[in-house]
Amino acid sequence: MSAGEKPKIGVFGAGWVGLVTGACFAELGHEVVVRDVLPERIAALESGRVPLHEPELPELLERNRERLTFTLEVDDAVSAPIMFVCVGTPPTYSGDADLSAVWTVVDQLPELEERAILVMKSTVPVGTGEKVRAALDARGLAHVGYVSNPEFLSEGSAVRDFMHPDRVVVGAFTEADGAAVTALYEPLETTVVQADVASAEMIKLAANAFLMTRISFINEIANVCEATGADVVKVAEGVGLDHRLGPHFLRAGIGWGGSCFPKDGVALKQLASNSGYHFQLLNAVIEVNELQKRRVIQKLQRHLGSLRGKTVTLLGLAFKPNTDDIREAPSLVLAGRLVAEGAEVRAWDPVADGAVALPRAKICADPLEALEGADAAVLVTEWHQLAELDWREAAKRMRNPLLIDGRNMLDPAELRASGFTYDGIGRAAGLV
Ligand code: UGA
Repeated sequence: MSAGEKPKIGVFGAGWVGLVTGACFAELGHEVVVRDVLPERIAALESGRVPLHEPELPELLERNRERLTFTLEVDDAVSAPIMFVCVGTPPTYSGDADLSAVWTVVDQLPELEERAILVMKSTVPVGTGEKVRAALDARGLAHVGYVSNPEFLSEGSAVRDFMHPDRVVVGAFTEADGAAVTALYEPLETTVVQADVASAEMIKLAANAFLMTRISFINEIANVCEATGADVVKVAEGVGLDHRLGPHFLRAGIGWGGSCFPKDGVALKQLASNSGYHFQLLNAVIEVNELQKRRVIQKLQRHLGSLRGKTVTLLGLAFKPNTDDIREAPSLVLAGRLVAEGAEVRAWDPVADGAVALPRAKICADPLEALEGADAAVLVTEWHQLAELDWREAAKRMRNPLLIDGRNMLDPAELRASGFTYDGIGRAAGLV
């Protein structure tokens, strides 16, 4: 590599994190090789198809086609001096993170003659870096550096989050390795937090746990609002303007889901308990979230009595808007509970495919069709299509125009004027 030339980058894993990381580094001028073990995924990417729904990603991949290679071969990815590990770390039965895909990457590294750096972007328990370092040393790969560089990408805005980060965290065993990874982010002109490897690993877990804590906190405030006549939307506005607290992650609703919070929350809880510490607060945060999803059922029962034989429409299935991801989505718990209560479930989502995950629900292509003859609707995901829906028409089509607004997305007064009984989360003042 000549002076000033950008180093080639290898990426293990063509999932959300790997594709966004690869596409963004290509956009920054690097040649990037993305390796995955799934032939159909690589074939799709090679033919220009993006196997997941993420705004801006298709355009970015297309624009940087010449600098991006997709491959099934380990040898192609290890030809790069800097290799990012972006493989999945799903929960195991015990709740600990399953690191088998991470270890496969480490174990498959061939004898590397040149100096290289393995950069961990996957979310891993604190202590993983130490273990990987020891494994590399034991294999005679002491010249392969190891850096922890956790991702802070939110699905639905991952490209923007990568290009305009609040900070970049770099945890390294040696200054030189830390500097090499820091240099990759120079064009982004952001704050780089240089840390030891264990602290970098913990920053990621702590940041997610703190965000979850804020959501469970505001959800509990919402529940107290319901019992006392306050409106949580106003309360969050007033609380969030305190500069020490800030306005983010104070939207009350039916709880968090997705591929990150549920898994990372439990993984941190288990990491703490494996180390002999009982993380009481995090336990409560997780439990509040579980209960929050189920409170919707009680709300429906308060309005409708028994749900047996009633038709309930779920508006939105994805765990948040602008993604097709339904992993751990509140919609799955709701659908399951509704079926258990004897209700007929209908569902609509503009991109998420609910057919496999919700075999007992009737999936509809259009929200008005999904509401036809229904006894109640639950707004589960705040898709913009729902803000733009003709709610007057929706009220006419339903047998009983009742809306549980699980995201406090809509204006209660407007919904009532359209003929709805409107019930949000933590909005007791507006209860009809
Ligand atoms: C989250 C973090 O926000 C990212 O910083 C992190 O990198 C990522 O996990 C990860 O570990 O990979 P993500 O799960 O994509 O990102 O989505 P979020 O926007 O954080 O939303 C998570 C859940 O919280 C959603 O179900 C959302 O509806 C819910 N939420 C969010 C609320 O209920 N209230 C809020 O105020 C904010």
